[in-house]
Amino acid sequence: MNTLPSHVKIVEVGPRDGLQNEKEAVSAAVKIELVDRLTRAGFVNIEAASFVSPKWVPQMATSTEVMAQITRKPGTIYSVLTPNMQGFEAALAAGADEVVIFGSASEAFSQKNINCSIAESIARFEPVAQAAKEHGLRLRASISCAFGCPYQGDVPLDAVADVVTRMAALGVDEIDIADTIGVATARQTQAVMLRAAREFPLSGLSGHFHDTYGQALANIYASLEVGVAIFHASVAGLGGCPYAKGATGNVATEDVLYLLQGLGIATGVDLAQVVAAGQFISQQLGRKGNSRAGNALAAKYGTAWAGEKNTA
Ligand code: HMG
Ligand code: MG
Repeated sequence: MNTLPSHVKIVEVGPRDGLQNEKEAVSAAVKIELVDRLTRAGFVNIEAASFVSPKWVPQMATSTEVMAQITRKPGTIYSVLTPNMQGFEAALAAGADEVVIFGSASEAFSQKNINCSIAESIARFEPVAQAAKEHGLRLRASISCAFGCPYQGDVPLDAVADVVTRMAALGVDEIDIADTIGVATARQTQAVMLRAAREFPLSGLSGHFHDTYGQALANIYASLEVGVAIFHASVAGLGGCPYAKGATGNVATEDVLYLLQGLGIATGVDLAQVVAAGQFISQQLGRKGNSRAGNALAAKYGTAWAGEKNTA
């Protein structure tokens, strides 16, 4: 049996990937409360906002307000999406710790999501990367559709490797290998991760799995087996991409934590507080959360159990 990593970094993406797809406007106050709860739960990295066009993603229009009013914990990295220099300037003014450039391994998805080709996107990211370095900000790259595309279908391994290489050349600190539409299966996941690891250090690769086909936890386990030790997850399984029709949310953070806890893998995150945060945001959205473990734990212990622990 392969040795699994003893420690995993979870990047909590609920406030950004989770909420960006909500049809009804979620107030800045609710987003701030969510980020603050997640901070208290112990995440070392929270994707808190997105500086994209409000015409494209209206839900993220409150990003400046959110970043200004969250209570930051020293050492916690608050990340934001920045597709271009306009986004970078806003991120810098907002005091982001990490900016995320986001491209795609699929030409078709690149056009739909950020309105340009893969090559044009890399050209747009160049000044962002340079500016991030100049200002001492961490720089992360996300690669969508690394396992399949809603518009073009199959995505060859070499297409993923090509974008990984281009992102690596920009000097990124970390690269997210994203299953935007949640179609990947376990062996495929390992093949893509191992191919990406030929172009970029495995220690800087992260798995960003949406759970559309219910495969995300299996894909995380498969990634752990090949040594990936960074995963993205969204509290209560919130989310979906506005430009990937039918794609559901990210893997639920509570489910990932439950898995890792059972495997004896440390994360530094308090599951009880995440369950409470999941209940909080689900209540705000007026629907039951999508985390199986979260719902089971909340039912077992009741809202007061997790809620009381959290509001300190
Ligand atoms: P464009 O229309 O080609 O850009 O959009 P433009 O430069 O021609 O500008 C058009 C207008 O947008 C102008 O405003 C700009 O000021 C404004 P106007 O003059 O018409 O009033 N604009 C901006 N406003 C605020 N912030 C900015 C910004 N840039 C331009 N940064 C653009 C190109 C990239 C901006 C647009 O396509 C966009 O915002 N797309 C959003 C894409 C997005 O957020 N998708 C969801 C996140 S990615 C994701 O979820 C996948 C991920 O989770 C991984 C995975 O699961 O795969 C990361
Ligand atoms: Mg995503």
